[in-house]
Amino acid sequence: MYEFFLEKLNSLKIDSIYRTIKKPMLHEGHFLIEKETGKKILNLSSNDYLGIGFDKSILNEFLKKIKDENIEYYFFSSSGSRLLSGNSLSYEELEATLKEFYKKDVIVLNSGYHANIGLISSLFDYETIIFFDKLCHASIIDGIKLSGAKFYRYNHLDYNHLEKLLKNHRNNYKNSVIITESVFSMDGDIADIETLLYLKEKYNCLLYIDEAHSVGCMGQNGLGVSFKENLFDRIDIFLGTFGKAYASIGSFIVADKIIIDYIINKTRTFIYTTALPPIVLSWNNFILKKSFHKFHNRRESLNYIAKYTREKLSSLGLKVLGESHIIPLVIGTNEDTIILSEYLYKNGFYALPIRYPTVPKMSARIRFSLNSLVEKNNIDTLYDQIKEYYERNMAK
Ligand SMILES: Cc1ncc(COP(=O)(O)O)c(C=O)c1O
Repeated sequence: MYEFFLEKLNSLKIDSIYRTIKKPMLHEGHFLIEKETGKKILNLSSNDYLGIGFDKSILNEFLKKIKDENIEYYFFSSSGSRLLSGNSLSYEELEATLKEFYKKDVIVLNSGYHANIGLISSLFDYETIIFFDKLCHASIIDGIKLSGAKFYRYNHLDYNHLEKLLKNHRNNYKNSVIITESVFSMDGDIADIETLLYLKEKYNCLLYIDEAHSVGCMGQNGLGVSFKENLFDRIDIFLGTFGKAYASIGSFIVADKIIIDYIINKTRTFIYTTALPPIVLSWNNFILKKSFHKFHNRRESLNYIAKYTREKLSSLGLKVLGESHIIPLVIGTNEDTIILSEYLYKNGFYALPIRYPTVPKMSARIRFSLNSLVEKNNIDTLYDQIKEYYERNMAK
């Protein structure tokens, strides 16, 4: 059996898709510091979009607040699943804040991954047909596989293709759902929520939107791309995570009370796992409120720097995708992408390669995921480095 594992691992190495855990580095805000050499590197590969994950003043403010308020908020374990002994004041308060902001029922789960695999596999079964965007995240695909439902992938953001599939297949099944991300994690482009709502209503489906990469960053008060008047109420299942812009861990579902009750009763990744620790839930609540009320400037800076970066990189004649703070620079082969990423690292930029099979073959890329603290002069230096890299390679 070990030979089988070894063979599989070797074939990953041959295809340049062998994964290893990176050496830990120290954090200084949005910079990484090499422990041995002290070398300072700008982190352009983090999901800490609002730049709060390593902000000591925000952390100290939180610690002071919970110290002043209640010892309940300090514990590092919930010591049980939510349905047994793991519920806490912190859960109730976080869900109350989410309910106040989204004005619908909510439930908090342990992560976005837990939410997608758990919800999709419990809400949908062989009587359901699922239509989903071809570039949906692995957790959505895993949930679909576990559900046993029939499914069709539509081409990325191609709603004519989706409608064709709906026309041909929707009526053969009792239930139906369309699943999409709002901001796509690997391409940085954005779903057209209005068209999806039109189609879901025309063909009598549910609409499930994963906003993992947009909550905190986009939409009114950072509540997500689809948090708009006349849109949000018509979405059936909305997923946000705390693991990215909100600099923590956990996820939340906003939906009708029937769906929330269904999750509590049927979703195995909710029922059969230890609940989140009170200290984490309290932090989530603290950051969520701050983001809603105070982080408009951070969202504006993020927007500004994303637009600037996309324009600069495009001006080099390179293939740059998307329209958000996630900026993929498509290189092609896994090998070439790794070489560029290593070059950038040497020159002070932590920008990781995203390779096949995470993205389609020959579309390996450097995925720049920006944060609100990145400055114009950082991007000017990045631009110069990439320009020099290509000029040097052309001259060879
Ligand atoms: C679209 C999408 N959904 C869900 C997840 C998983 O979220 P979490 O990191 O909270 O498990 C990710 C993570 O990368 C994601 O990109």
